[in-house]
Amino acid sequence: MFFREWKKRLACRVFLAAATLGSVVGQSPPSGTNQAFNKTQFSIDDPVSIWVIVNKSRPLQPQSYVPLDLAVPHVKLQLSPKSERMHVRQMVAEPLHDLFAAAEKDGFHLILLSGYRSEAYQEKIYARYQKKLKRAAIASARPGYSEHQTGLAVDLNRDKDLKCLTMPCFADMPEAKWLADHAHEFGFIIRYEKTKEAITGYEYEPWHLRYVGKDLATELFNMHKTMEEFFGVGNASADTTSK
Ligand code: DAL
Ligand code: ZN
Repeated sequence: MFFREWKKRLACRVFLAAATLGSVVGQSPPSGTNQAFNKTQFSIDDPVSIWVIVNKSRPLQPQSYVPLDLAVPHVKLQLSPKSERMHVRQMVAEPLHDLFAAAEKDGFHLILLSGYRSEAYQEKIYARYQKKLKRAAIASARPGYSEHQTGLAVDLNRDKDLKCLTMPCFADMPEAKWLADHAHEFGFIIRYEKTKEAITGYEYEPWHLRYVGKDLATELFNMHKTMEEFFGVGNASADTTSK
């Protein structure tokens, strides 16, 4: 009994000593956090901002928003370059090309399935999902509530292999692992993570990448946080079934 108490006190002293020493030598914050990160650098409300947060409780404003600088990225496209779904915001085109090139170098061949989607097109997709899928609410955003409408999000797949196209089995493909490990190096995040479904409101989508720029992407990757957690904004956890 006495020995246990003594051990407890010793552990407490060691902890206090370490904490004091840490503050004296200016020990850095716990690994993975960056207290110097400026969270107000860009707007999270403006649809034009690379940090805009769009989720089930945060529609684009206005909901009819159309980016003015859509461009065709020089990557492998699933559809004709004329299709607006093959377009992304200008600032995303080069990082996306670099990501495809790096994946290629490592032996992975990717293809762009879906980039920009208009409000009208999202309406069609959402209706199609609702007809076919019970899980429509956690798989597809309502029109005006999709990140794809910002021109900053892309869905990718393994080239010439359609069997896991936007399906859970894509997660088991080496391409998904490569994207999870490297997307942040090019400014992208895996927006809908496996363990964060209650926070994002959507099921795990290892194919859906969102461009936020290298600084934020790296920060979120290191902290393993969603945009909602990092910026402390409302999430849609309460509503994953009816909308
Ligand atoms: N699949 C994502 C959530 C979208 O529809 O935007
Ligand atoms: Zn997507």
